[in-house]
Amino acid sequence: MSAAPIYFDNNATTRVDPRVLEAMLPFFSEQFGNASSMHAFGAQVGGALKRAREQVQELLGAEFDHEIVFTGGGTESDNTAILSALETQTGRNEIITSAVEHPAVLALCDWLQKTRGVKVHRIGVDAKGRLDLDAYRKALGPKTAIASIMWANNETGTLFPVEQLAELAHEAGVLFHTDAVQAVGKIPLDLKNSEIDFLSLSAHKLHGPKGIGALYVRRGVRLRPLIRGGHQERGRRAGTENAPAIVGLGKAAELALQYMPEELGRVRELRDRLEQGIVARIPRCLVNGDISQRLPNTSNIAFEFIEGEAILLLMNQHGIAASSGSACTSGSLEPSHVLRAMNIPYTAAHGSTRFSLSRENTQEEVDRVLAVMPGIIARLRELSPFWQDDAPASAEFKPSYA
Ligand SMILES: Cc1ncc(COP(=O)(O)O)c(C=O)c1O
Repeated sequence: MSAAPIYFDNNATTRVDPRVLEAMLPFFSEQFGNASSMHAFGAQVGGALKRAREQVQELLGAEFDHEIVFTGGGTESDNTAILSALETQTGRNEIITSAVEHPAVLALCDWLQKTRGVKVHRIGVDAKGRLDLDAYRKALGPKTAIASIMWANNETGTLFPVEQLAELAHEAGVLFHTDAVQAVGKIPLDLKNSEIDFLSLSAHKLHGPKGIGALYVRRGVRLRPLIRGGHQERGRRAGTENAPAIVGLGKAAELALQYMPEELGRVRELRDRLEQGIVARIPRCLVNGDISQRLPNTSNIAFEFIEGEAILLLMNQHGIAASSGSACTSGSLEPSHVLRAMNIPYTAAHGSTRFSLSRENTQEEVDRVLAVMPGIIARLRELSPFWQDDAPASAEFKPSYA
């Protein structure tokens, strides 16, 4: 009998928690009402949406439940915040973002630059993926409509000092948005004590359903809707609410808060066991990202002189799922824009593999992966025309452990 598959790709998406599914099910059957209806069927659903809003509010540490606007996911939340900032502030046509954002922000910025003449400042990062703070400060100005910097990078897990970045933005009179799709549910957040104006989240990264998310909009900050129509979400996002998914997001948020100590404890320990085990067993590998400022579940490891795609294929044969970059960029043979922005040498960037764990993983799974990884890497290196046992490490390429 073959062993159960191992899922270490939780930054791509997570399994819906059975308790989330259970909470959703009645909203496909007996609780089918439209929340806007003036009868008991509607009121039942309206109450459930209110509860879900409070659950998300609590996870974010937001002050008011009406600061939460339900959307169709992280991408829609990012688009809404950025486009709104441009539309509500005439005369401001510059955006500040980072070179390592998710395409949900970067592709929108590229499009705005090409079609609307918006000037986009893409702030660079250093070799550990840390933002160039001086360049960020310098870019802020009277023409900036919004600064949008992610809370945690999806590929490396590197955390950005977004609370400080929001304060700097406000000192310059600039709105601040953060794509926190990878941070929400993995690290504690306390928005009421921050100056962040907008925050994006997505349910499917925290054991909730796909196609539902939220945009946090600080009280008093103007929002121009992306989708116009009915008066749902206080006129900020039109369309009959996706009640089952919203209820699922609410339950997922409640569970994420409950499991936060485990995320910061057991999940982090599993990640460290995996990472340190790999580095100890396999020569010439490097941990990408800022090890001291990182999500507890993510490890991005570069195996020098081999291709990430080949590693994933062989891992898949052993029933292990990981990723060679973000789900959106894999499929192209170029190293990801994140690793390129970090100036990771080509020979290492190509072999970078992302392991992202969750509360559903176990030590037994980590140990099974550790047992097979050295063989997988050795086999691929034997086939690699570039690999020599005694090849000198490239100058910039210094293994961070070992
Ligand atoms: C950092 C980040 N932002 C945005 C998104 C997009 O979220 P969604 O899939 O909910 O549209 C993702 C998903 O991969 C992400 O990792």
